[in-house]
Formats: sequence, C-alpha cells, structure tokens
Amino acid sequence: MLRVVVMVSGGGTNLQAIIDGIANKEIEHAHIVGVISNNYGVYALERAAKAGIDHAVVSPKDFADRTSFNEALLDKVRSYEPDLIVLAGFLVVIPEKMIDEYENRIINIHPSLIPSFCGTGYYGLKVHEAALARGVKLTGATVHYVDKGTDTGPIILQKAVEVKDGDTPEILQRRVMEEAEWKLLPEAISKIAKEKI
Ligand code: GRF
Repeated sequence: MLRVVVMVSGGGTNLQAIIDGIANKEIEHAHIVGVISNNYGVYALERAAKAGIDHAVVSPKDFADRTSFNEALLDKVRSYEPDLIVLAGFLVVIPEKMIDEYENRIINIHPSLIPSFCGTGYYGLKVHEAALARGVKLTGATVHYVDKGTDTGPIILQKAVEVKDGDTPEILQRRVMEEAEWKLLPEAISKIAKEKI
C-alpha cells in the first residue's frame, strides 16, 4: 500500500480529486497518510478533515528564517514515512535536502504543457494569463517528477485542453483543472502505486 503525503497551499481541488480517486477505486494500492499545508485556514485542510485524513500546517510565518522552516517542513514530511509526496497546488520551494532524501518520489501538477508557460513566476492564474497572451490554441496540464529546478523534472503524464474564444484566465484555469489536472494526478498516483512508472 503506497503511503502518500499531499502538500497543499489553497483550495485543495487537486487533493479532492485524489481523495475521490481513492474512494471510487480509480486509485488502488495507495492511501493518503497526511496532508501538509504552508497556509492556515485554507479549504484544502477542511477537505482533509472531512475525509478523516491527518493534516498539519507548517507555515514560514512561524519560523525565524527559511532554514528553520525548511527543517520543520522536512521533519513533518518524514513523520508520515511517505513512499510518495504529491505537490497539489503547493506554492513553496521544496528544500534541496528534501529532494535529495525523496529523489524520484516527489511529483507535481503544473497547469500547462511543460515546457510552455512554466518556471519561476508561472503559477496559478499567471500560467493561464500567459497562455492567453501568447494566443495558444491548446494548453493543458503536466504531472512531473520534482527535481532541483522549477518545473524541470522528468514528465510523467500530460493532457491537452482546448483554449476557447472569449476565455478569461479564470475560465481557462477551471477548464484545465476539470479536464486535465483532476484526471492526471489520480492517474499518475495510480500508475506509481501499481509500479507502472
Ligand atoms: C491549480 O491551478 C493547480 O494547477 C496549481 O495550484 C492551483 C490550485 O490547486 N498547481 P488546488 O485547487 O489547491 O488543488
């Protein structure tokens, strides 16, 4: 049984997709042992609580400096003894020490077809604003392994999503979430749990 820790920062719709994927057996041989947020009071924590999943906040605001925050974050991750760490809308840079310790066991969902619209500064709505500004007809989402770069690790899965006339960043973000993110992340976890990757 794959022990999965999910790291979140906000609404947790990707976390919910994983929770639902396990409940409806789309994901087998895996269970979420912990949810970690860098922010207090976000809805992702409510989603974890409703699902009876252990959850914690490790906030940079509670630490004097980034080094002590990084240590606390890694200690919290270690405490769950994860086989897989899933960054689901997690907006904090992962400490290099954590990437070394969990090499090829951290995956991230990015709301574009990497290598387009990714890297430093491309997160959340900014990704979709850039796609609309460029005028692409197709965008989508990518699940990839996390390495020490930003959105640069080996790509696991991608799914294309059509950009439609009149799309705003918010409309496009929602379509990418519904048609790509919420499908790809459970599929990637399922494949890893079945050791197909
Ligand atoms: C989404 O845009 C996702 O692509 C990105 O973080 C945002 C919020 O995700 N990774 P969630 O609703 O908190 O899962």
